[in-house]
Amino acid sequence: MTVEAIDVRHGYGDETVFEDVSLSIRSGEVVAIIGPSGVGKSTLLRLLALFEPPEAGAITYDAEDVWHCSDRRRLAYRRRIGMVFQEASLFDASVRRNAAYGLRVRRSWPDRIRQALARLFTTPNGTGDALEALETVGMREQADQQAASLSGGEAQRVAIARALAYDPEVLLLDEPTSELDPRNTAVIEDAVLAAKNRGIGVALATHDMHQAERIADRVAVFLGDGIIEVDDAETIFENPADERTRKFIEGELIY
Ligand SMILES: Nc1ncnc2c1ncn2[C@@H]1O[C@H](COP(=O)(O)OP(=O)(O)OP(=O)(O)O)[C@@H](O)[C@H]1O
Ligand SMILES: [Mg+2]
Repeated sequence: MTVEAIDVRHGYGDETVFEDVSLSIRSGEVVAIIGPSGVGKSTLLRLLALFEPPEAGAITYDAEDVWHCSDRRRLAYRRRIGMVFQEASLFDASVRRNAAYGLRVRRSWPDRIRQALARLFTTPNGTGDALEALETVGMREQADQQAASLSGGEAQRVAIARALAYDPEVLLLDEPTSELDPRNTAVIEDAVLAAKNRGIGVALATHDMHQAERIADRVAVFLGDGIIEVDDAETIFENPADERTRKFIEGELIY
């Protein structure tokens, strides 16, 4: 499945965060989204994940405008993507239950409702996949530990396991390794590459330039009020078309 943002504008209240943003994520590729804090990377990922409609422009799944189709179709599309938020949001239960939770969690839902839904939707059948996904992120041994007692990095890995266990066609990861040490960062990067090799399209926001260089096929550079260039990783890091890209990568922050 190809997921695409086309000439999208979005903001909050009267503030426009970005405009004219276009980006596609195709099956079997990793797209890294890089750019300074506050530029709108998370906002774009949330739009791609259909959490809300963009103010202008379109989000398409396999070329269909998902905000101009029936609610039923949009829900069906939503089931085909997985998203992991910048702050891992686990509910108060075991690691295993969290990983087996095959329902898109809305962060605005109260914990009470999320937990009731988790009990409903966690089936013994789902647990096998969940354990496999926990293994992939190096968390299988902690399957029976309570999520509330996990470190930030462990919780982040469980959130990624949950998304993998759901078996999405497109996976959107918002700074998936921001709380991880180098060894666990490598574990997650391997999991991302394994997902890609299974044909999953992955988009990830990251502040780690080396990570983008290591695992991305293409890189989108988000600066100012939009994406200034998208190209294959080698071009972005070695010979970018836009001088601002080089400056950003070399650490001169510009807006
Ligand atoms: N719910 C919201 N209400 C109001 N403003 C918001 C909301 N979410 C994000 N913003 C603002 O929109 C802008 C873009 O935020 P976003 O989280 O998308 O940035 P980001 O590129 O992901 O940053 P970071 O690298 O720090 O994660 C910021 O100025 C932020 O303050
Ligand atoms: Mg963000």
